[in-house]
Amino acid sequence: MRQRYYIEDIGEYVNCEVTLEGWLTGKRSSGKILFLQFRDGTGFIQCVASKTDVGDEAFASADGLTVESSLIVTGVVKEDRRAPGGYELSVTGFKAVQVAEEYPIGRKEHGDAFLLDHRHLWIRSSRQFAILRIRATVISAARDYFDSRGYTMLDTPILTPAACEGTTTLFATDYFGESAYLTQSGQLYNEATAMAFGKVYCFGPALRAEKSKTRRHLTEFWQIEPEIAYADLGDIMDVQEELLSEIVARVLKDRARELGMLKRDTAVLARVQAPFPRVTYTEMVDLLSKNGVEFEWGNDFGADHETVMSRTFDRPFMVTHFPKSVKPFYMEIDPDDERLTLSVDMLAPEGYGEIVGGGQRVTDLATLERSIDEGALPRADYEWYVDLRRFGSVPHAGFGLGIERVVAWICGIHHLRETIPFPRMLNRLRP
Ligand code: 4AD
Ligand code: MG
Repeated sequence: MRQRYYIEDIGEYVNCEVTLEGWLTGKRSSGKILFLQFRDGTGFIQCVASKTDVGDEAFASADGLTVESSLIVTGVVKEDRRAPGGYELSVTGFKAVQVAEEYPIGRKEHGDAFLLDHRHLWIRSSRQFAILRIRATVISAARDYFDSRGYTMLDTPILTPAACEGTTTLFATDYFGESAYLTQSGQLYNEATAMAFGKVYCFGPALRAEKSKTRRHLTEFWQIEPEIAYADLGDIMDVQEELLSEIVARVLKDRARELGMLKRDTAVLARVQAPFPRVTYTEMVDLLSKNGVEFEWGNDFGADHETVMSRTFDRPFMVTHFPKSVKPFYMEIDPDDERLTLSVDMLAPEGYGEIVGGGQRVTDLATLERSIDEGALPRADYEWYVDLRRFGSVPHAGFGLGIERVVAWICGIHHLRETIPFPRMLNRLRP
């Protein structure tokens, strides 16, 4: 492939002439000088064209370019401390590839619905660029964490016959006359692959018919889910802590510019280092009541409770030993208190709430069968899963880290919808 130049590497070409292929994001003119705001997908740069350098005709045609016109610019890279990225391009020539029609997204404030309707264009903006580049780095850091530690990555199915995370959020679809559900989590299949490969993980979409509109819920989101044979609750808490620390460190190192574009306070992120605070569900309930929040032991925490809780700590923290009533059928019972499970949620600080959910799984055959029955789940659909307790059952544990929740918190943004290229929510299937 021919040599190509990208804005993110522009610092390597100071005083050299380079050609950049991209789009015009805006322009300003002062009669004899044109300032072209330009992006190429790896970054943003200002290109300065003077009439004397490019000639009258080229200058006039550049002046006629509209926002989001596609453009190939050639110029000499100049270091400039005042420029946002530290560099500027002194234009020697350019070629318009397509002159764009009037662009619907302007500098003025648009409503959420308008921007979401134009998500296919909205992703071009500098804020969305920063968020989605951070998302890509979060995913790559998470995968590198597992890949470099001997986990086998094994995909789990999207079309499934049974629920993993409760029957109320299932998306049903017709499967050749039979009813199938879109996966809510790869966990049950991870448990099977963990018994075959020891340490595994899957990375894929999770689909849940979330019927409430909240800033923390999408109907399609992505999880990275490890599962480890012969691991207990304490083991996976250590993994969660180490994984999240590594993800955050990687974003701080490789995406400092994007965090800067979002004006993120990185001091909070720099504090993300093990050990994270660990509290039990019961201690959390006491803490809530001390903060004047009414909460009955045995209930699940709602978004409002999580918000209060996650303002209490200055770094991510883990809540363990939730009551059986609020956790799914597969959670191992606490041998010290049968009302409790060996479960753990990790919550992000600054009011963000749950970012990871997991725990130790039921090992014993009879206990699992009872739990399936108590959950009124159809035994036949779980027979294969129950088999895992018939043939070499061992203690094992795992968790799911929600990519969008982690990205929202790292970026310090309010709503999950900006953390995924094309969000799916209640009332939002398009574009
Ligand atoms: O806590 P959850 O439901 O746990 C599971 O699915 C387990 N089976 C995972 C496992 O043990 N392998 O979901 C895991 C994480 C949550 O902590 C949250 O970060 C994210 O997935 N999540 C959502 N993210 C966006 N929108 C939603 N509707 C989400 N529901 C869960
Ligand atoms: Mg959860």
